[in-house]
Parts: sequence; structure tokens; C-alpha cells
Amino acid sequence: MKKQTQGKTKNHYLMESQEESIRLDQKTDPLVVEKQARWAGIQPGMRIADLGCGSGKTTQVLYSLAQPGGEAVGLDFAPNRYEFAQSHYTKPGVRFLCRDVRDSLDDLGTFDFIWVRFLLEYYLSSSLKIVQHISKYLKPGGTLCLIDLDHNSLNHYGLSEKLEKSLKDLTALSQEKADFDPWVGRKLYSFFYDLGYEKISVDVSAHHLIYGPLNEMEAFNWVKKSEVGLPKLGYDFPAYQGSFNKFHKEFMEYIRNPRRFIYTPVIACRGIKPVYG
Ligand SMILES: C[S@@+](CC[C@H](N)C(=O)[O-])C[C@H]1O[C@@H](n2cnc3c(N)ncnc32)[C@H](O)[C@@H]1O
Repeated sequence: MKKQTQGKTKNHYLMESQEESIRLDQKTDPLVVEKQARWAGIQPGMRIADLGCGSGKTTQVLYSLAQPGGEAVGLDFAPNRYEFAQSHYTKPGVRFLCRDVRDSLDDLGTFDFIWVRFLLEYYLSSSLKIVQHISKYLKPGGTLCLIDLDHNSLNHYGLSEKLEKSLKDLTALSQEKADFDPWVGRKLYSFFYDLGYEKISVDVSAHHLIYGPLNEMEAFNWVKKSEVGLPKLGYDFPAYQGSFNKFHKEFMEYIRNPRRFIYTPVIACRGIKPVYG
């Protein structure tokens, strides 16, 4: 039987749905991933782990940046993501495994570069423990790169009072009921600090920067974010007579309105695992 390092066996991923691989694949911009990975110090020849790899698109980009001579392993605990990644992105030097990153990964050996993007936000109560756990699989002198959002989905300008109140309530519920952390981005630096990492660097930029007309990829992303994640929180939508559909309609009208302005800070943090520690 698999040993659970964090005592949780359940896939409680808030965004789980049949279409999640497609949503992730569509919204992942390989140029952004490349910029982030270069900033983090990815180099040819590295052995790379992409933890919570989603559709596998990020793993493919990381692999290409590690050429010549590098290899990449993408891990995701959702069978749906694993199958998508395997069928779209497997090739010599890139492999995918359907695994929970909180489990023992001893059989995979150690890595020169571990990349964890948009995963820790789903683990409010255990993100530091998870980082501590995966850090075991980084070679001394290797690079850890954590990337996540801060003040997640709370910087929407132009909301009606009803929408604003509902989004605040939903944010509070996401923490309570789904262990979601809308503020994990600002915590990343402290994880590196607490674990004694060296040469720590932080970069802040904008994710979900939306103004003017909405493109169809962004529309699909927000429809799915609303339709999949929010109903799971059990909110009774008091400002909308208990109707999720009424809320969803107004929210999507807001998202499609070219006057609205949306951004979410994305925080990237990287550090080197000490050789002696
Ligand atoms: C928001 S997506 C991010 C995907 C990708 N890292 C990216 O940057 O686009 C989070 C992914 O992490 C996976 N995930 C969440 N918890 C996990 C865990 N404990 N072990 C492995 N995968 C996990 C989910 O199934 C999902 O595919």
C-alpha cells in the first residue's frame, strides 16, 4: 500500500472536472513558462520534476529548456490529467506519472530542478509541509522554483455590490471548505527562508491581466472557474435568491464587459538547496 506522507489520500482538487486538462492546456502560455523557468535558472542537462504538471504542457517546455542532455518527469494525481499529458507530450526524455506529490517519491531519485506552479494554492493547511517533503528530492545545490498566485481573484474592478459580496463570501468558503489558499503567493519566500535555502530570489508579475474585449480562451477559463469550482463550495448565493445560475450569468456578463479590469499578482520564488545543511 502507498504510504501517505501528509495523511491525506483524497483528491480534493477544487477544479476537478472532465474538461480540466483542456482548460489547463489552453490557458498555459509556453512563452510565459519559458520566461519563468529561465529566470529560475533552468539549464541544459538538468533532471527536472514538474510537480502537479496538469496537461503536461509545462513539462514539455521545461524539457526543451533542459536540452541538450536533460530529462523531465511530470507528476499529477488526476488520472484525467495524466492520460492527457501522456497522450500529448510523452517523448524520449519526457515521462508522466499519475502520482500524488505528497506520497513518497523515493523511487524517482533526485532532481536538479524542481518546479511547482499553481499547486500550493490548493493546500492552505499543508503547503509548507508539502514543500518540505518535495525538498527531499532535490539534489544539494539544486534549484527549487515555486510559483503561485496572491490575493487570488480578489482584484476585480467594476463589480456590482452583489457580485463583490458574493466573491468575498466564496473566497472565505474556499478556505474553510476546500483548503484553498488565495494568499499563498506571499508565503512562498518564507518557505525557502524557513528551509534554509540560499540565493533566494522573488519576482512579482501580473497573471489574469484582463481589460478590453475578452478572448475566447479567457472566456472558457472563467466559465470553467465559475461553473466547476464555485458550486462545490456549497454557498447559498443570498444576493441572488439562492440561485447559482443568476450569479453565474451576472458574473459572466461582468467578465465579458470590456470596461472591467482584472489582474492577479503571480509570485515566483526560487532558491538553491544548501549543499551542507
Ligand atoms: C492549477 S493546475 C496547475 C498545472 C500546471 N502546474 C500549470 O502550471 O499550469 C494544478 C494541478 O495540480 C494537480 N494536483 C493537485 N494536487 C496534487 C497532488 N497532491 N499531487 C499531484 N498533483 C496534484 C491537479 O490535478 C492539477 O492538474
